[in-house]
Amino acid sequence: TTYENSFPKGFLWGGATAANQIEGAWNLDGKGLSTAEVVQKADDRRKMSMGDVTEETLAIALADKTDDLYPKRRGVDFYHHYKEDIALFAEMGFKVYRFSIAWSRIFPQGEDAQPNEAGLVFYDNVLAELAKYDIVPLVTLSHYEMPVVLTQKYNGWAGRETIAAFNRFTETVFNRYHDQVDYWLTFNEINTGTWGFHETGAIDKGLSEREQLQIRYQALHHQFVASAIATKQLHQIDPNAKIGSMLARMQTYPATPKPEDVRAAQLEDEKNLFFTDVQARGEYPEYMNRFFSENGIVIHMAEDDQAILLENPVDFISFSYYMTNVTQHNQVDDGVGNMAVGGRNPYLKESDWGWQIDPVGLRITLNAMWDRYRKPLFIVENGLGALDKLEDDGHVHDQYRIDYLRAHIEQMKEAIKDGVNLLGYTMWGPIDLISFSTSEMSKRYGFIYVDQDDDGKGTLKRIKKDSFTWYKEVIASNGETL
Ligand code: BG6
Repeated sequence: TTYENSFPKGFLWGGATAANQIEGAWNLDGKGLSTAEVVQKADDRRKMSMGDVTEETLAIALADKTDDLYPKRRGVDFYHHYKEDIALFAEMGFKVYRFSIAWSRIFPQGEDAQPNEAGLVFYDNVLAELAKYDIVPLVTLSHYEMPVVLTQKYNGWAGRETIAAFNRFTETVFNRYHDQVDYWLTFNEINTGTWGFHETGAIDKGLSEREQLQIRYQALHHQFVASAIATKQLHQIDPNAKIGSMLARMQTYPATPKPEDVRAAQLEDEKNLFFTDVQARGEYPEYMNRFFSENGIVIHMAEDDQAILLENPVDFISFSYYMTNVTQHNQVDDGVGNMAVGGRNPYLKESDWGWQIDPVGLRITLNAMWDRYRKPLFIVENGLGALDKLEDDGHVHDQYRIDYLRAHIEQMKEAIKDGVNLLGYTMWGPIDLISFSTSEMSKRYGFIYVDQDDDGKGTLKRIKKDSFTWYKEVIASNGETL
């Protein structure tokens, strides 16, 4: 064996976006309001806005018909620029483009008698455009949004009724697009459902942390079941299509070699991998059943739930990778069991937003995930949010982004040499878009700069950054020229 050319032929290089961060057109062509469009922008860069929806802020958002406080309503107007944007992706040589379908474009009120044809046509058009350039679509079914009506009616995924609504949506889009789409993902970063509103659509009712966790884990159970039902639907509609899980991977390191710290790190890691354990292996692992029972959390299951999970595991495993964690044993019982505490890693640098940069951690994660699951892996997000500067001469010199991506791709290569089956790499935000966590425009990830500021002002003009040319070379050389 030669280890020279490590990326396999057909490796899927590309980029990833999400409907609510890129499309805009929040109230056009019959689209309903989504949960992402009621989340206000953060007032502080380091403070994430993703969990901040209460009965009160929801009422304010519903009454507000502007996008001033809600940048995800405007995105970067991909809705009207998709041809131009996809042509730019094609120019870089993209093999794959990951995007999400906005559920609220297809079922504006969540449980409409008929899907919204205009919404379906939009994605017909996007797929036709990708086909022109032989770009393989990778479609996320739920990326941090749902029709807001389902929050009002059922408290989002906390209500079991949402399963049926979602699976009508998935059946509709599978039937419509299965000829064009071979790769699907169910829930984006499903594990972040334990953090707040954005993933489950369940609003903050001022409950205790333990009560909130009860609601969130129950909501997640409904998502696990809905994901398994979607898997079953897809395999029935198109036996060749593949569907994957999607985890925000958080590799955890122990703060010291003290065995209690190592064990605390292992537990943190398990609590992250739990989600993929359920989706790939088809059952709740015993370590989580123990965690639930020790913390008074009860997962209510219907009779068939366990069978549905067991019979419909995912075909492949995808994840996002941005950072790693450090943990040490905490003697203090903080009310949610003997939880570990997170910390900074003194060996790593961080981004302007305090996200610690750890390329080697990607290799560790890839090797560990492959060992654990033996299913194909797909890195569907990785990238650097930075404050880019558009120079007077019209250029953006983003060498720091090139350095970041290169370092991560080098580690992917090492993992592949170790035998990891990696299907592809879609870096996050190939075109600048609205930040998920802060709703800023100035947190930019792209190879393509978009002329728009945090207040939504600008021409929306697309400008190639230095990293554009660099990534084009990476793809053309199948990862050999970095
Ligand atoms: C992931 C999400 O958490 O990270 C994306 O799936 C998000 O939606 C990305 O945009 C980067 O996060 P942020 O907050 O910098 O946009």
